Amino acid sequence: MYFPIFRPRRLRETETFRRMVRETHLRVDDFIMPFFVVHGRDVRREIGSMPGNYHLSVDELVKEAKETAALGIPGIILFGLPATKDAVGSEAYARDGIVQQAVRAIKDSVSDLVVITDVCLCEYTSHGHCGVVERGRVKNDPTLELLAKTAVSHAEAGADMVAPSDMMDGRVGAIREALDESGYEETPILSYAAKYASAFYGPFREAAESAPQFGDRRAYQMDPSNADEALREVGLDLEEGADMIMVKPALPYLDILWRVKAEFGVPVAAYNVSGEFAMVKAAARLGWLDEERVMLEMLTAIKRAGADLIITYFARDAARILRQQEP
Ligand code: PBG
Repeated sequence: MYFPIFRPRRLRETETFRRMVRETHLRVDDFIMPFFVVHGRDVRREIGSMPGNYHLSVDELVKEAKETAALGIPGIILFGLPATKDAVGSEAYARDGIVQQAVRAIKDSVSDLVVITDVCLCEYTSHGHCGVVERGRVKNDPTLELLAKTAVSHAEAGADMVAPSDMMDGRVGAIREALDESGYEETPILSYAAKYASAFYGPFREAAESAPQFGDRRAYQMDPSNADEALREVGLDLEEGADMIMVKPALPYLDILWRVKAEFGVPVAAYNVSGEFAMVKAAARLGWLDEERVMLEMLTAIKRAGADLIITYFARDAARILRQQEP
């Protein structure tokens, strides 16, 4: 009934008008780039289902970290592939574990880059689960101690922030307490608070060699059907001392991002996961989608839904484009 008084198309007519009324702006500062680090030297092996992403040895990772910082991206998150896996994921909390080595090397040679570490056991356990397994079940409380040890060892190596992704109950509190006791009361926690048991992690599990050897993760990660429960998870993690919280995956869970941001108003990160990335890459290779436009649209949608930060394998591609657009 407003028409013809109000014609929304008036402000869409030219790019200059569109720029004036644009509500959401992606910035290079929004991005966090994930990396996979492996033992060895001169290792740079592309991950099949994640084109442009590599298994990198520490020396190669340092080069990539420098490049990432040079693009203006403020942070990276590290995942490690251990030399050997065992039932209790020993390398996750070893002083000279692969992530610990990587953090030291990056902190020694790259300034102005926030180095975040993923705190989880699944890459390090022989069974591929995110915790201690007893009689075919992932045991919650015995896992907390190992997660806390892992987080402290990352902080010791110089990690700027730790990010628990295991979905055990009480882990944020356990990690906060252990960090404080070890003198790392200034190290913030980015909690994967609402992490869903998602099929979109498929390519990551190939990249991190972390697929569970039996069963699945539905007894600890969230049911994709639930939204109220995500708010409860976030509330709990904040009470336990989380400084930032994460919603993961991103694109299929924009409603969760929106609700979390509206309800809590704390810094929220979204993880644009491996499967979201691989779908775009695959379709683009087939000539079915315009990769660049789809990427920017996806990232914009994630930000519009409430994410302050986006962990994404597109971080560097997107940063390059945004820098070109700068006047
Ligand atoms: C480890 C972890 C996973 C991802 C991040 N941390 C996999 C999983 O829970 O199985 C997935 C990231 C991605 O798909 O990009 N717990």
